[in-house]
Amino acid sequence: MRKLILYAVFSLALTSIFYSCQTAESVERDAYYVNGRDLYIRHCQNCHGEKGEGLGELTPPLTDSLFMKQNRTQLACIIKNGLSAPLSIHGKVYEGKMPDFNLANIDIAQLIVYITNGFGHKQGMYNPEQVAADLKACK
Ligand code: HEC
Repeated sequence: MRKLILYAVFSLALTSIFYSCQTAESVERDAYYVNGRDLYIRHCQNCHGEKGEGLGELTPPLTDSLFMKQNRTQLACIIKNGLSAPLSIHGKVYEGKMPDFNLANIDIAQLIVYITNGFGHKQGMYNPEQVAADLKACK
């Protein structure tokens, strides 16, 4: 019985250590991710699909991890300003036009956390300050 209690106390301690190790950043990132998913469903899913799979020849998928990594600092610009230059995604060229979205920096940050941590990506946190900086440097 004593062993059992000791064991219970020990595992409780372990669990609380584990949860406090979940850094403030990961809690914040999870909140961004959940809000970003709502925004994605509202603004983006029609074209890019529930799983980021895209829409045939018209809309590229959001699953190309090379593109998403190489263009991380351009994602805010793509969302805010839209895009019409031809793009190569997964080796296929897309020539459609993406509309612009007049969203607040916080919304853009949440969307980017969602699309760069969902769909098979794992790029971590991205905040409104980074959105502001990236928007100043749009190509
Ligand atoms: C009306 C359809 C449409 C909507 C809505 C739309 N997109 Fe797009 N998106 C496109 C098209 C078409 C392209 C390719 C544009 C090009 O080739 O220049 C694109 C390209 C992109 C790209 C870069 C290429 C890629 O596939 O990774 C990203 C990132 C992206 N969109 C994210 C979003 C996000 C986030 C939203 C919601 C805020 C959104 N899009 C809403 C049609 C759309």
